[in-house]
Formats: sequence, C-alpha cells, structure tokens
Amino acid sequence: MNEEYDVIVLGTGLTECILSGIMSVKGKKVLHMDRNSYYGAESASITPLEDLYKRFSMPGSPPESMGKGRDWNVDLIPKFLMANGQLVRMLLITQVTRYLDFKVIEGSFVYKKGSIYKVPSTETEALGSSLMGIFEKRRFRKLLVFIANFDENDPKTMEGVDPKQSTMRDVYKKFDLGQDVIDFTGHALALYRTDDYLDLPCLETINRIKLYSDSLARYGKSPYLYPLYGLGELPQGFARLSAIYGGTYMLNKPIEEIVVENGKVVGVKSEGEVARCKQLICDPSYVMDRVTKVGQVIRVICIMSHPIKNTSDANSCQIIIPQNQVNRQHDIYVCMISYAHNVAAQGKYVAIISTTVETNDPEKEIKPALELLEPVEQKFVSVSDQFGPVDLGVESQIFVSRTYDATTHFETTCDDIKDIYKRMTGTDFDFAEMERKKNDIFGDAAE
Ligand SMILES: *[C@@H]1O[C@H](CO)[C@@H](O)[C@H](O)[C@H]1NC(C)=O
Repeated sequence: MNEEYDVIVLGTGLTECILSGIMSVKGKKVLHMDRNSYYGAESASITPLEDLYKRFSMPGSPPESMGKGRDWNVDLIPKFLMANGQLVRMLLITQVTRYLDFKVIEGSFVYKKGSIYKVPSTETEALGSSLMGIFEKRRFRKLLVFIANFDENDPKTMEGVDPKQSTMRDVYKKFDLGQDVIDFTGHALALYRTDDYLDLPCLETINRIKLYSDSLARYGKSPYLYPLYGLGELPQGFARLSAIYGGTYMLNKPIEEIVVENGKVVGVKSEGEVARCKQLICDPSYVMDRVTKVGQVIRVICIMSHPIKNTSDANSCQIIIPQNQVNRQHDIYVCMISYAHNVAAQGKYVAIISTTVETNDPEKEIKPALELLEPVEQKFVSVSDQFGPVDLGVESQIFVSRTYDATTHFETTCDDIKDIYKRMTGTDFDFAEMERKKNDIFGDAAE
C-alpha cells in the first residue's frame, strides 16, 4: 500500500465507480477501496435474499414460497435509466454496455384521483388516453408539437415564448391547459418532484420533456431501461472499466483515517498503512464531519406475487403519484421490476416505493402507493438521511458525492458526477474525451 496515487476513491457506489472509471481512462493512477465486502455501497443490489432479511433485521429467514435466495438481486435504491439520458450516453461511449444486458421498462403510469393511467407522451397516445377530455387532448397535443419543434437557437420555433424569461406557468397558460394536465406534464413527463419549476424559465422544462419524448421514441413502451441482475451491475461495470485502465480495487478495507496535512488530503490509512494521494473522492459515509443533512427519503421494498392492477400485467413499470393528487409537496414514486429481470424468483415482483419525507410518520405518507400494490407478501422499510458536502472540496481536495435522491432516474446522479469532475479538474466534463467506440445499447459492442 505504500504507494502514491493521483486519486483515491472510497465507497463503490455508482457515482464513485463512474468517477473512478473516468479518472482511470484519463490516465490517472487510481486506488478504489470499500469497507464492505461487496460492490455498490448504497447503490448495491442485495443477493441472496437471506442477506436482505438480515440487512433489515427481519426475524427468521425467507419462507420457502420466496424460492431460491440466489435468484434475488434486490436494489436498495430504485432507479431506471432514461434511454436517451446521460448515464446511457456514458455507458455507450465507455463501452461498459458490453458487460450488461438491458430491458425496456414496459410502461409508465400516472395516478389521478385514485386510479392509474398510462402516461401519454406522443400525439397518438394522447389522443387515445382516457386521462383527458377531448378538448384538453387537443390542447395537450398542441403543447407536445410546440415542444417537439422548439429549438433554442431558432426564434422562429418559439411562438413568442422566451426560453430564458417566460415561465412554464406562462407556457401552460398559452396552451390553456387544466390542472390535471399540468400535473402530469410537470411530474410524469418533465419528472419534477415539486411544483417549484412553474415559476422558473421554461427552457429546462422544455428540455426535460424532450428528453422524455426522445427516450420514449428510442425503444417504445416507456423511456426507461433497466439492467438484468439489478442496478448493482452498473457500478461493477464501471469498476471493470477502471481496472482495464489500471485502477486498483480493494474491497473489505476498513478505513481508519483520512490523512490531512495543512488542510489538504495527503492519504488514506487502512489496516495501519497509509496510501498517499493528491485527490480523494468518497461518499458521505466516509466523511461524516464534511457533510450536512439535506433531507430524508423513505423507501419501501415490496415483494409481491402479482403484477400491479391496471398496468396490463406489465412485468415492469413506473408509477408516479403527483404531489397535488395526494396533498403533498413531493411526488411519490413506484418502480416495479420482476423475475423477468433476474432480480426475483420465478413469478415474483419487486416494487419499490420512494419519496422525500415530509412528516414524522413517513410510512403513512406512502400509503396511497402501498394501496396500489396490495396484497404485499413482504415489506422492507427504510428511512435514510440524505447528505451533501459542506464545501466544494477545492481546498482540501476531498470531493464528496451526494446521497442518492428520490428521483427514479440517474440524471441527478450524472449531474453530481459532472459537478465533481469540474471541481477536481477545473474543466467541464466532455463526453467525447471518454469515447471508446459508439454503439447502440442493445448492439454487439463486443464485436
Ligand atoms: C382499475 O380499473 C378499474 C376499471 O377501469 C377502475 O374502476 C379502478 O379504479 C382502477 N384502479 C386503479 C387503482 O387504477
């Protein structure tokens, strides 16, 4: 261990593994350690099922009806990949896709007045949807056409909307849209968790809806992808990338001290030895004195033997419960996957409910989502604190990632990665720099 590294990374969560991969590809000498014996940290998929029971301190072991424990890979953090999003782009240019197999999530649904409806996001789907009345449909269709044609470099496409000045509220008013349509446009298409976006310039919202539509257009069914064997495959894929470029990996390493001299990190002590480094990347759990609590997320893993009602028996789906519909400030999400993704025993389904905690009784907050899933065979409830770094790390050269939030995709995780990259290097992250070979996510990248 008595070696000098450019970068030491602590924790093998997805954020850390992607940064480790990026730094290795850029020619940095990287040492990556984790106190756990498995990859993924908070973004791990737990296998076998017995380990999930242990992790949640459930009495006894899984009943026989749960099948073989090894057939389970249960995610701790529920998320999907946007087909046209930043993570897929990163997977493609680095060719990490060759270690992974993806499936398209079968449907995206939105909750309205106690029932769930398929999210319409194309003109044809919108016209066939029972979510809206006939006049509302026409107005919504006009909004979708406007957004599809909107080009921020071409004022002719803007119909008088100023992308930097007009708010999204103005845009909804322009198309005369009602509250229900506004709810699902903002929350099920633009994927905002709160209503704060309404009074901000509309460009960000327009781009988010474009991301949703472009992702949906890519593979049909839904804009989301999911890797077979669970999300834990993602950090492992990037760890392999880092290793190919010379990165060193060590699991099961207790971290005794982060050695700081004159306010700047110089190394990490593990099992009595100090590995020296110029920069350090880690998740909040390794530096609790350098992070601050930014909120709490409740996640409820539900095991079921049936698909969710009114989803056309989809073996995977997402359900968004917009905050307005249940008198909250934050949306509630449900991500469901199943045996079809090699994450559960034959015939079993895993739905994970998540939302930002708003009260002292978070389990009560997620009841509307739980009601959609009943009967549930086994529940695993967690309420976790979310942390963010107290400073930018420029002085200490200690760069701390943010805890995974309640969003159901990886766009905010990728923003955090790009942000840390910029603070570490002083330059913007450029996807092209990572380019190995372009390919389709379902293409044969291995030749
Ligand atoms: C499911 O569909 C039925 C029939 O259309 C409807 O009455 C019920 O409210 C729906 N339930 C949910 C949870 O969507």
